[in-house]
Amino acid sequence: MRHFLDTQDFDQSELLSLMTLIGLLKRADKLGALPPLLAGASLGMIFEEPSTRTRVSFEVAMTKLGGHALYLKPGEIHLGQRENIKDTSQVISRMVDAIEARTLRHQTLLDLAANATVPVINGLTDYNHPTQVVCDVFTMLEHKLPDKELTDLRVVFIGDATNVCASLLMMCTRMGMHFTHVAPPRYQAPEAWQAIGRKNCLLSGGSLTISEDPVAAVREADFIYTDLWWWVGQEAEIPERRAAFMPRYQVNAALFDAAPAHAKMMHCLPASRGVEATDEVLDHPRSIIYDQSENRLHAEKAILVKFIYPRLRKAPSSLKQWHAGQILSFLNDRTLNPTP
Ligand code: CP
Repeated sequence: MRHFLDTQDFDQSELLSLMTLIGLLKRADKLGALPPLLAGASLGMIFEEPSTRTRVSFEVAMTKLGGHALYLKPGEIHLGQRENIKDTSQVISRMVDAIEARTLRHQTLLDLAANATVPVINGLTDYNHPTQVVCDVFTMLEHKLPDKELTDLRVVFIGDATNVCASLLMMCTRMGMHFTHVAPPRYQAPEAWQAIGRKNCLLSGGSLTISEDPVAAVREADFIYTDLWWWVGQEAEIPERRAAFMPRYQVNAALFDAAPAHAKMMHCLPASRGVEATDEVLDHPRSIIYDQSENRLHAEKAILVKFIYPRLRKAPSSLKQWHAGQILSFLNDRTLNPTP
């Protein structure tokens, strides 16, 4: 069974095909012509952490496709507490068509997937965020200069080596794009991620650069991307992290002005406005942060269709009619089915 846990589990042609599907579903949706491809299907959405974009996009995507989503919020189910992950995963798999999970630890997601009998979709872990970056590269394709190919694009990620940075590094290098991570040495992408990126580049023709110099890095950027400098659980490190990143690594007007006139500003959100990026760049005419957020919805639709649609049983209408007849004749037979 295939799951959607990491873009590294998919080759370039599969990821490109996913981009095409996102475009088809987005176009149909904008015209009110989206087919109910997931009618009758259910998605279990497990969240160990709060979420705005991931939660809303998956739930709305299921509704738009004719299916249903259950929001299993932090602390609401027995995941790893009072019930082991195997039992939770097996039980939920018997009732839904796919599981989307945001887990604090990546290992929890891997354990869920190892025991699931339906596809599991990664909604963010402490390691990576693949649904975000599929959406991001689709957004880049929408906003690139018309004369550039995907493999011409230069993406400069400035800031902490977050889970989004990990996924973006891997996705861009897999797609043959040119990815630069800019951060102080202590916060740069670890060697293990770089090794994956370099291997991707050998196959794809992309490139991976690690740099300490944001001004030099943005000079040829098509897209400048940043993310939070600290997350829940890193509060004790805030003074040290702020000192390491501020002011040199903040994406502000001065840094944005050093980029080409066509460069676009990206952020996965939520943002700490005034910290990793200032209002003037997040709200700049060349900021595409809200297009990015909207595209989470279109990307989730494509991922859900790709993983759920082929598994749905599609009985012919004759079989449906035969079963309806059997059930109705039982219900209407007062001997077999006495009125309660
Ligand atoms: N970018 C992202 O995943 O946002 P949420 O945490 O709101 O889901």
